[in-house]
Amino acid sequence: MSSQGRTGAALGGEGQIAAVPRVTIQAFCESGDTAAVMNSAATDRRMLKAHVKAHMGGMNAALEAYRSSPTPNVVVIESTSDRATILAQLEELSEYCDPGTKVIIVGRSNDIHLYRELISLGVSDYLVAPMNVLTFVTSVSNIYASDAGKNVGRVTAILGAKGGVGSSTIAHNIAYNIATSYEAGTVLVDFDLGFGTAGLNLNQDPVTSLGDIVQTPERADSNILDRLMVKCSDHLSLLAAPAMLDTTYDVPDSTFETMLDTLRATTPNIILDLPHTWTAWVRRTIMAADDVILVAAPDLANLRNARNLLDVLNAARPNDAKPRLIMNMVGVQKRPEIAITDFAKALDLEPMAIVPFDAKLFGAAANNGQMLAELEPNNKVTETLLDVTKALMGRAEPKPVKRNLLGPLASLLGRKAS
Ligand SMILES: Nc1ncnc2c1ncn2[C@@H]1O[C@H](COP(=O)(O)OP(=O)(O)O)[C@@H](O)[C@H]1O
Ligand SMILES: [Mg+2]
Repeated sequence: MSSQGRTGAALGGEGQIAAVPRVTIQAFCESGDTAAVMNSAATDRRMLKAHVKAHMGGMNAALEAYRSSPTPNVVVIESTSDRATILAQLEELSEYCDPGTKVIIVGRSNDIHLYRELISLGVSDYLVAPMNVLTFVTSVSNIYASDAGKNVGRVTAILGAKGGVGSSTIAHNIAYNIATSYEAGTVLVDFDLGFGTAGLNLNQDPVTSLGDIVQTPERADSNILDRLMVKCSDHLSLLAAPAMLDTTYDVPDSTFETMLDTLRATTPNIILDLPHTWTAWVRRTIMAADDVILVAAPDLANLRNARNLLDVLNAARPNDAKPRLIMNMVGVQKRPEIAITDFAKALDLEPMAIVPFDAKLFGAAANNGQMLAELEPNNKVTETLLDVTKALMGRAEPKPVKRNLLGPLASLLGRKAS
């Protein structure tokens, strides 16, 4: 990964919870609440690779189980016993624990002394019940996140509720704005494998693409990705779509998993431009993202599709922020449109931005291979997308905007053709 990817602010400005690796976790609970937390954690997107099993019976059941069988990677034990009992039982448990097994204790008392004592005995974490699912997921994640991996990037997936609603254009502009206004390392991934336009829109003609990853997905380490990415500017790199039709892309759903893990470990901001298709790998990729942005135009088909997308996303991601909504192409002359307030009400989701239909501006940007901030930095639509970027970046403030004087000039000179 190029060095620019490793530095700078990340979207949201906060640390992410790194995905838990392929480990086995067994929990021995005393309360139904804690068992419920274990079962919800098992379906959290960060735990998809892990195997979680919750039993009842607390410490006694754990001792019973491990006297005769090997211990898994992580043992979670809930105990409402007093300190002395917990310590005595832990000592017994340690006789059966295989080296490498991590132990998490879930107790009832918020007692820092007990916490310190348990940690000094080699317990990985002490959590206080009742707890929420993310507390538990974070605890397991921290056991396995290396120091390097802790500073993980944020993946934002952008998907249109219908084809042609401008989701790619918005994704490219957001990636460009993060890299330019925030000078933060950003990788834009164009997942529209057959027809992607990121290369065209960013005025790049890359010879390498995601096509190479489709062939050997397990090899997508940072060296390979470095070779496949093109650098568009100091802070923006592009993993382009092959945009060739010599092959089809009905690939297994895990095809891009290694690649995204690698990107997360090396790049603060990862923007995914997803195609408007519903394949297994698109679904898996969007489900695994930290943030999801749906782009919709104000008509009935968009509303229906956005509703369906929200339903599956909310159901599969109960511990995550709701997807965000950007209304695009609003106000086409003479076109009957669904009012934005009605659209938002039907979805129970306020749009983070409303982008007007502007054929002249977007048409010029597309034909010149320019981003809006290059072409017309002072345009209201450009500012709207800068506001979107700012909202995504959370508390981080943009660097003072350097107006790109070459932008308009380049367009006059027909930069694309040169
Ligand atoms: N707000 C807008 N007003 C006018 N044209 C737009 C707007 N947003 C995008 N477009 C244009 O619409 C076309 C389709 O956009 P694209 O981003 O490829 O859509 P999608 O990725 O959703 O299929 C492009 O030519 C783009 O320039
Ligand atoms: Mg697209």
